[in-house]
Amino acid sequence: MKSKLKHKIFREISQVADQMQMETYVIGGFVRDIYLHRPSKDIDIVTVGSGIELARNVAKSLKPSPRVNIFKNFGTAMLKYKDMEIEFVGARKESYQQDSRKPIVENGTLEDDQNRRDFTINAMALGLNKSNFGELLDPFNGIEDLEDLIIRTPLDPDITFSDDPLRIMRAIRFSTQLGFDIHAGTFQSIIDNRERIKIISAERIIEELNKIMMAPKPSIGFKLLEETGILKIIFPELQQMKGVAKVKGIGHKDNFYHTLEVLDRIVPNTENLWLRWSALLHDIAKPATKKFIDGQGWTFYAHNFIGVKMIPGIFRRMKLPLNEKMRYVQKMVQLHMRPIVLSEEEITDSAVRRLLFEAGDDIDDLMTLCEADITSKNSDKVKRYLKNFKLVRQKLKEIEEKDTIRNFQPPVDGELIMKTFDLQPCREVGIIKDAIKDAILDGVIHNNYDEAFTFMLEKAAELGLKKKN
Ligand code: CTP
Repeated sequence: MKSKLKHKIFREISQVADQMQMETYVIGGFVRDIYLHRPSKDIDIVTVGSGIELARNVAKSLKPSPRVNIFKNFGTAMLKYKDMEIEFVGARKESYQQDSRKPIVENGTLEDDQNRRDFTINAMALGLNKSNFGELLDPFNGIEDLEDLIIRTPLDPDITFSDDPLRIMRAIRFSTQLGFDIHAGTFQSIIDNRERIKIISAERIIEELNKIMMAPKPSIGFKLLEETGILKIIFPELQQMKGVAKVKGIGHKDNFYHTLEVLDRIVPNTENLWLRWSALLHDIAKPATKKFIDGQGWTFYAHNFIGVKMIPGIFRRMKLPLNEKMRYVQKMVQLHMRPIVLSEEEITDSAVRRLLFEAGDDIDDLMTLCEADITSKNSDKVKRYLKNFKLVRQKLKEIEEKDTIRNFQPPVDGELIMKTFDLQPCREVGIIKDAIKDAILDGVIHNNYDEAFTFMLEKAAELGLKKKN
């Protein structure tokens, strides 16, 4: 184990701690990640005494001496050394009140400190004093849970979750990230304490949810959220997608599980959180738009457009950004059926140009989303779709090379129209501008100045406008 603490910083902390005669340990996620072989740059140091004093002296002993950031209210201090972030805290005993996450804090022993941590795998500590350097202190047998891939609270789970209900999200997040099972008693306690999640701020919940989104298989987390009843509290729109309605014995597919399949399928193809969010939300308006029509079966008319309208409300409530990231997700949701429709019909140049124009630089992401969206069990159907998609991609490439539509700026703009016909901004300018854009996208004229100018003159004549002399 000693070799696991080979980073120079641990020797430095060890020496200072011995000089100050303070019992000191490295604890929590860093220790867990050593055993999981996950490299980590966040180090938590706990000492029996003042973490702030220890941090100050450690900083003094380092060359060059780093700045110490002190958070008096929390009794913690942080310093950066090389690429490591090291946080120092005094060992604590905490007790919580029913209606708040604010604990009453008292100084305590290492064991008190380990007792108040979230999971057995996060409560392990390694000694840093000379007498026990590198020795594992693991009162809850976290090592065995690591080997058995189990998430379990060190104390009675009702106490651990009630103390800090964010841990409900953390249990599900760790289970998703690490592929661990949640121990039966811990799982039941999540169900029993789920209402307590309501005292946690949206900012902290979304941080966990985004970590679930970035995990290798996000569906694990969403299924756990659903099974524990957390989903309906924090994300009712997604909960609504679960289940199959039947009319005259005809059901539609379960949109919750379909969505999770799409999300898992997109993961290997993108590290872009917002493309993953687009996958999660692409069918979000299906419950709101579903309708059974005789002779046609289940329909979800305009679910993409209604989905676009639902997104700002969801983003605002969940404290997701309301900026271009949201608009990107809206664009993906709005366009998510277009390449499929395109591939089902004869792929015309005009349809491809329009898609390129609307998707712009996000066209590749849109294609990635659409490919992930093909989850049919019918393998012939899947093959046919994927083959057609190849054609769409090829056609997109050809047209893009020929016409450079992606960042299309019409070669004749509103200014020129106004100047040519001596106009103030008015309806006619808009009509001519749109007509030029449509003519180019439909392939009536090429994307160049001369053809666009001639077309403008024709269109203006139709509208009865006269050229300025
Ligand atoms: N911890 C806790 N309860 C919380 C948050 C944290 O008991 N709600 C404890 C755990 O012992 C955890 C340590 O504080 O290991 C550090 O927390 P944090 O840095 O948030 O998480 P890590 O476990 O390091 O994991 P990650 O970096 O993946 O979030």
